[in-house]
Amino acid sequence: MRDEFDEPQPASEIQNPAAEVAAAAAPAPLLPQVPAGIRLLNRDFLTDVANIPDASIDLIVCDPPYGLGKDYGNDSDMRTGEDFLVWTRSWLELAIPKLKPTGSLYIFCTWQYSPEIFSFLKTKLTMINEIIWDRRVPSMGGTVRRFTSVHDNIGFFAVSKDYFFDLDPVRIPYDAITKKARSRKLFEGSKWLELGYNPKDVWSVSRLHRQHAERVAHPTQKPLEIVERMVLASCPKGGRVLDPFMGSGTTAVACARQQREFVGYEINESYCAIARERVSAAASHPVPRRAKAKPQRQTEVQ
Ligand SMILES: C[S@@+](CC[C@H](N)C(=O)[O-])C[C@H]1O[C@@H](n2cnc3c(N)ncnc32)[C@H](O)[C@@H]1O
Repeated sequence: MRDEFDEPQPASEIQNPAAEVAAAAAPAPLLPQVPAGIRLLNRDFLTDVANIPDASIDLIVCDPPYGLGKDYGNDSDMRTGEDFLVWTRSWLELAIPKLKPTGSLYIFCTWQYSPEIFSFLKTKLTMINEIIWDRRVPSMGGTVRRFTSVHDNIGFFAVSKDYFFDLDPVRIPYDAITKKARSRKLFEGSKWLELGYNPKDVWSVSRLHRQHAERVAHPTQKPLEIVERMVLASCPKGGRVLDPFMGSGTTAVACARQQREFVGYEINESYCAIARERVSAAASHPVPRRAKAKPQRQTEVQ
């Protein structure tokens, strides 16, 4: 495993002296460039987290192995039951002290383990929301012995009641028709009508199926839209985000686009390479100063 992914790589072992000379003369392969504030580490979070100073992080976005047996090119998702919960508690204990007093933590998990994980986190932090990510899975047969599960559970926790939270960049604008329908005097000048409404705690965002434009070679890549909302709402501009299990680097991409600093860990070297490519591409196409969210037709009752 590499020490730090953004360092030049050592040449592999060479037996042939002529090849050795040629290899020494050859320029080091150019790695895609990432912005200075973004650190993509090909390391194990649990053994390396001690290098992060306590109380230095504004936001932790945790998308750990879920304990469902996914193949990440390692056995990190093979723990189940109490073994999985012991492991989850152990890395959370290491991560939480890294948060500033105004900091927040989001954790992705499933209904199978969310009750135990949330109960544990409530002993350490203040619970702000449970967000349901409706993955918009199409209806197709499936299990006949229970209802089909189509959501992930996301816990949103904060260190204190003074946690940072900026609603304006994540408001959802109303379209013209809905605005007109709310044109009664009572609503005139309301910020929520002009700037948009507060996203609710059910986030309906399609999972990244194989043909999706955003999709890269990672089995559980999260949609950028979800992670970017967390970053915008819960980390001040220029603040620092930690992702202990960065996978293909979705949180890093959100940070590169939204001018936040980032430190992330991933034990699979090829996922680190994907993260680097994604961040490099995102950094060369930054988001305009106030990215406009798409106006939404209001179809649900507010
Ligand atoms: C659910 S995936 C993260 C997916 C990511 N959010 C994305 O959008 O691509 C979890 C990742 O954690 C990595 N991982 C597992 N154990 C780890 C550890 N101890 N330190 C760092 N990374 C680890 C796995 O290799 C896997 O890629």
